[in-house]
Parts: sequence; C-alpha cells; structure tokens
Amino acid sequence: MSLQNQSLIFAKIPTGLPTSEHLRLISSEIPSNAPAGGLLLQTLYLSLDPYMRGCMRDPKIKTYSDAYIVGKTFSNYGISRVIESNDMRFTRGDIVVPRIAKTEFSLYQVVSAAEVPLFTIVSAENGIPLTYYIGVLGMPGVTAYHSLMNVAGPVKSGETILISAAAGAVGQIVGQLAKLNGLRVVGSVGSDEKVKFVTEELGFDAAWNYKKEPDYYAAIDKYIPEGIDIYYDNVGGPILDAAFAKTKVYGRIISCGAISQYNLLPEERYGYKNLVEIFQRRLTVKGFITRDLFVNHPESVKEIKNEMAKLVEKDGGASFLFKEDITEGIENTITAFQGLLTGKNNGKVIMKFSS
Ligand SMILES: NC(=O)c1ccc[n+]([C@@H]2O[C@H](COP(=O)([O-])OP(=O)(O)OC[C@H]3O[C@@H](n4cnc5c(N)ncnc54)[C@H](OP(=O)(O)O)[C@@H]3O)[C@@H](O)[C@H]2O)c1
Repeated sequence: MSLQNQSLIFAKIPTGLPTSEHLRLISSEIPSNAPAGGLLLQTLYLSLDPYMRGCMRDPKIKTYSDAYIVGKTFSNYGISRVIESNDMRFTRGDIVVPRIAKTEFSLYQVVSAAEVPLFTIVSAENGIPLTYYIGVLGMPGVTAYHSLMNVAGPVKSGETILISAAAGAVGQIVGQLAKLNGLRVVGSVGSDEKVKFVTEELGFDAAWNYKKEPDYYAAIDKYIPEGIDIYYDNVGGPILDAAFAKTKVYGRIISCGAISQYNLLPEERYGYKNLVEIFQRRLTVKGFITRDLFVNHPESVKEIKNEMAKLVEKDGGASFLFKEDITEGIENTITAFQGLLTGKNNGKVIMKFSS
C-alpha cells in the first residue's frame, strides 16, 4: 500500500523574493506504513516565519540558523497527526509538534526512529486552538515574552514602548504583554486595517500607518511626544535609524529582527546615519535569538509557554488575543510566504494542509 504525497522542495537559493523557482512542489508515492521504530505523520498546520528567508542561503555562510539544503524538503515548526506509530510512546491520532523546526512542508512525513525524540505530544482537548502551538504558545510567543520580560526587562509601568511590525505574530504579543505591564504602547504598521486592529482590538495607546505617514521622525514626534523608552525593532532600516535619534537618553533598543532587509543583498542594505546617537544618548542596544533559549534553556522555554498558556486561557481567551492569517493548501505556500515578506499578512502566517 502507498500514499500519494506532495512536498515543497528547496530547489534554488534566491537573491530576492522567493518564487516557485526556489520552492518547487513535487508529488511522490510513499509507503503507507511507519518505518521500523518510527512514525508516519499527516501534516495539519505549518508556521511560516521570516527567519526562513535567511535559511535559504549558501550553507557555507554561517549564521545563527541552519541553512536549508538544496534538494531537501522545506521545513519549520508544524503540527501533525500520527497516522501510524512503531514507537510505544506514540499512538495513532496523537497530535505532535517538533522541538526544533523539523515538520516538513509535505502532506505526509515519514519520521525515522532516530528522529522520533524530536517530536512531542500536545493536548488536543484543552480548548486551546491547535494552531496556537506554533504561534502564541510556540516560537513567536516565546520570542515576545523572552525579549520583553528578560532582554528589555525589567520593564516599568509608565514607560513608553514603540513596536514596529506591531500587528504581526511577535508584535501583537509584545504589545499586549507591554500593556499588561503598564506601559504606554505605540505601534508602527503597514495598513489602516492594522492600525485599527492594534488600537481597537489589542488596546494599544496609538499606532500609525507608515505607508501613509512615511516620515518616521515626524510620526514619532506626533504619536510619542514624551519620547521612546524602549524601541522594539522587528523591521530595521529607516525606522530603526529614526529610533536611534528619538529614543530617550538611557533608552533601550531591542533588535528582534530586520525584515525590511531580508530580501536585499548586503550591498543593497540600508546605511544607518544615526549610529552616533547610541553613545550620545547612552542607548542600550540588545539583540537576541530565541533559538538560543530553545537549545540552551529548554526549561525556560517551558516556563514561558506555561505563562503564555495562562494568558490565552484567561477569560476564555477574551483578554489576550492572537490573530492568525491561515492559508489552505500546500500549493499556496509560496504566495503566503511572499505575503509575509512583503507585509500582506494580517497576523501570524500559518499554512493549513489538513484538518
Ligand atoms: N530574534 C529572534 O529570535 C526572532 C524570532 C522570531 C521573529 N523574529 C523577527 O521578528 C520580526 C517579526 O516576525 P513575525 O514572525 O512576527 O512576522 P510578522 O510581523 O507576522 O510579519 C512580518 C511583518 O513585517 C512587516 N514587513 C514585511 N516586509 C517588510 C518590509 N519590506 N519593510 C517593512 N516591514 C515589512 C509587515 O508588517 P507591516 O505591514 O506592519 O509593515 C509584515 O506583516 C521579523 O523581523 C523576524 O525575523 C526574530
């Protein structure tokens, strides 16, 4: 017996926005049985994250993340159902997530005995939407909590935080956590719809659409007349440059990411003009990589996930929101990924392959 499978193969290293030339959809037949000591999984959901663009590179270039290998299946954090198990720890019907980004962009995934320890069972019966395990209770949630509470922290009530890409997976969580800690929260976002979402649904104190108000210096003066205590940077480029000049003396800048630069060649990247402000304003600029926590401090990851779970379970989920942008069908993955890398998403980008 065999199964008809479809997979996205990393076919070519891109120089700009990835297309179907770089991620190719292929069909194959696979055995319908789990291998000896292994698992056969059906993929339900997969997360698309900006860092994946950085993994689509020449593996000789070493960074914090592993490079995808040309010819191999694209992979990330995902949620799968066990179809067949030859490992006593798993039974048919279990819902599993990987400890690291090892769910394949395939309809079915064959997990060898050696790979089984990478997977862990999550509860499907506690009322928490399954997709949350790759969002607010997964890597983005851990990123937001760790960076705000540990990297930027301690945060103080009354401080003002500016967050870029504020309506996205990480931004929306950072903003809500900051509000819970008594901060004044201001967001920079790429559409009026996102302004409405963060101010009216998430309770941000203010937000602006940088596509309509592209002068960051003027926008910061208008929406943050008191000055920035913490700038939470998801984007890099001109908004970071403006933040160097507009953050208060002794202020903090948290560098979470630089999505505006990911599709550019090194020589095309934005050249910063205000670095001199770092010493003049005695700024603390801190970068971090969540993966370090997953690898070196799994116990902290567990604690953070527990904290986030308490927040999303409170009041039946009404007091801590998490917006998702779910696209169905493996064949639509590239379009969704392009949307993430160009700001077309409204919330955490998730692919749904099956239910
Ligand atoms: N350090 C870490 O360990 C870590 C972990 C997770 C994520 N990150 C970083 O956190 C950032 C946000 O990730 P996320 O998963 O939460 O994504 P996201 O915010 O859900 O989606 C990306 C958002 O970035 C903005 N954007 C996209 N292209 C842009 C461009 N060319 N210029 C300016 N803005 C652009 C868009 O928002 P607008 O429409 O509002 O512009 C888009 O919706 C990324 O930089 C990511 O790499 C870092």
